[in-house]
Amino acid sequence: MKNVGIVGFRGMVGSVLMERMNAEKDFKFFEPKFFSTSQAGGKAPDIGRETEPVGNANDIESLKKLDIIVSCQGGDYTTQVFPALRQAGWKGYWIDAASTLRMEKDAIIVLDPVNRAVIDKALDAGVRDFIGGNCTTSLMLMAIAGLFQQGWVEWVSTMTYQAASGAGAKQMRELVAQMRAVGNAAASLLDNPASAILDIDRAVTTTLRDPSFPVTEFSVPLAASLIPWIDKPVEDGQSREEWKGHVETNKILDLHPAVPVDGNCVRIGAMRCHSAGLTIKLKRDIPLADVENAIGQSNDWVQVVPNTKEESIRKLSPAFVSGSLRVPIGRIRKMKMGPEYLSAFTVGDQLLWGAAEPLRRMVRIILE
Ligand code: HSE
Repeated sequence: MKNVGIVGFRGMVGSVLMERMNAEKDFKFFEPKFFSTSQAGGKAPDIGRETEPVGNANDIESLKKLDIIVSCQGGDYTTQVFPALRQAGWKGYWIDAASTLRMEKDAIIVLDPVNRAVIDKALDAGVRDFIGGNCTTSLMLMAIAGLFQQGWVEWVSTMTYQAASGAGAKQMRELVAQMRAVGNAAASLLDNPASAILDIDRAVTTTLRDPSFPVTEFSVPLAASLIPWIDKPVEDGQSREEWKGHVETNKILDLHPAVPVDGNCVRIGAMRCHSAGLTIKLKRDIPLADVENAIGQSNDWVQVVPNTKEESIRKLSPAFVSGSLRVPIGRIRKMKMGPEYLSAFTVGDQLLWGAAEPLRRMVRIILE
């Protein structure tokens, strides 16, 4: 059996990866070896059988013995360890959740329900670096890859509603702490049915602006508010999250010429599901039924939600989708701008298809 090293299994993405690998019985297919940068020598996670104690994730000699390494440790670890490992002559497969290597010419961005052909071609060509995509981009493609596969897409505008988990575990905690502070501030007024709504509003707004409001991670309130900027500035006024949407979509699908993808990326107070409002310019007027067919048949997880109020509010929300692999897309309709303009709304769990799931599936593909 191949030896697969798993680095960063205790973090948020790593923990979701462990859950999914256990649920899919992946550990039957390889010998896992767990590595940590801080807890070498500790007990490995429970996978239903004996495993060696946790190894040192910075020890190149131990890593060199592995056939495959899956890293959920983050970009700094990749920057430090990956080049040293390759320089030491390691020829194994590197599968990574971090963005560090994504746009390298020798790396493939993995999202196999969408780009299995690209992955297979790369494996045949001897590519060894397989990197998980940006969560927003991966979730968008899980939803609308069918339209790209038909060659119908001229451009896509993405307006995102991104969850706290995309920023990290500490940020998720901070969001809940902010919700608690807001709830506490309004509690007595809320409990009094005779209180005035503008007094409740004043209590909430005063709390959001209070210097004691917990904003260590986000710098500003997210609960009862939003943050219209994700990641660093890059070029032409775009944030890095917005920039990734274009470059990664085109790399994942290997599109030539490139299809423009751009929009506004916004953090909202959801826990782990990213949502996106999409405007899609089609190359020609395609009947809505054909659009829905192409979308719905493109993979086993995308689900077309009928464009009714009842179905939309129940099935197109983070509350409904959280913790599940399904990627619903709904509100599909032609827009007033013309019959080539399509509007849609999609939701997906960013810790699953946006992070852990493509990585565990890539391990299985290599082992096939
Ligand atoms: N950059 C994403 C976000 C995380 O901040 O939501 C996953 O790629």
